[in-house]
Amino acid sequence: MEEELLRLKAEAVAALAASGKDELEPFRVKYLGRKGLFTSVMRQLGQASAEDRPRLGKLANDIRQELELTFAARLEELGGGNVGGSGPRLDLTLPGRTEPCGRPHPVTQVMEEVCGIFEGLGFTVAEGPDVETDFYNFEALNIPPHHPARDMHDTFYVSDSLLLRTHTSPMQIRAMTEQQPPLRMIAPGKVYRCDSDITHTPMFHQVEGFLVDRKVSFADLKGVLSVFIAKMFHSDTAIRFRPSFFPFTEPSAEVDIGCVICGGKGCRVCKQTGWLEILGAGMIDPAVFAKVGYDSEQYSGFAFGLGIERIAMLKYGITDIRLYYENDLRFLSQF
Ligand code: PHE
Repeated sequence: MEEELLRLKAEAVAALAASGKDELEPFRVKYLGRKGLFTSVMRQLGQASAEDRPRLGKLANDIRQELELTFAARLEELGGGNVGGSGPRLDLTLPGRTEPCGRPHPVTQVMEEVCGIFEGLGFTVAEGPDVETDFYNFEALNIPPHHPARDMHDTFYVSDSLLLRTHTSPMQIRAMTEQQPPLRMIAPGKVYRCDSDITHTPMFHQVEGFLVDRKVSFADLKGVLSVFIAKMFHSDTAIRFRPSFFPFTEPSAEVDIGCVICGGKGCRVCKQTGWLEILGAGMIDPAVFAKVGYDSEQYSGFAFGLGIERIAMLKYGITDIRLYYENDLRFLSQF
């Protein structure tokens, strides 16, 4: 019986080594199955003498185990999966699960797009502090204490002289007190106003832009803003400069674009006017130049300030600004 077992083992090992993927299952049935060759040799164990039986039994078991391992290894080698197994077949063609992929917030995306356009026009980028002094935020911008323009700003005060900046215009002062003209800069960043409804959040983003040099005129302002609007929206977007007032610019204007929702026919978003206000601008007031020690006989300049959330709302047709800050992935993942 011992010889028989060893012969069977050699035969099985050779057969296994030569078998292809499709021959594996027949092999398993023939040698290792319940009615297979091994089982029938083991049955002869009963006829062996009592003293040989334990040794032969152990030999038979060892060989069987070894064959089972060799079979499993061969199966793996041939990429066979669960041949003869009872579990579900492993389908290697199923695509894997992908991790959800993050992306920049829509406000960040628009901010980068706006800055990119002005950088393309030769503007440099500067950033300043969110906590400002009264001097930079108001005083030097020709807004003295008790000036009625302060009412519009709904300021968050940190102390009597410190506040959360209400606009990015203080960056004009910071730049001009540190550098001499010519100057061509943008200043993106967060600004704060105590205000909250469907078109206002207490924190929002602005980009300030300003250019100071000899002989800068309102035509230069109009040229720069026209290029910006054409690139940001459509090359044929209508533009309108509407007279306005800011203490730090004279003359001042608010700039409107033809409504991107209705194309100027009049709708709910443009309140039936056909126009949407997108930014404030003007020629830098000589009183501001005086504060920073620039000679307004020699130099002139323009400045503008635009709200990023507002531009993003117009660009994507969003009617409630608060959606940007509710962190709802169903909303955010659309951008
Ligand atoms: N700072 C003004 C605002 O926030 C916008 C502005 C900037 C107007 C520069 C004119 C020039 O409302």
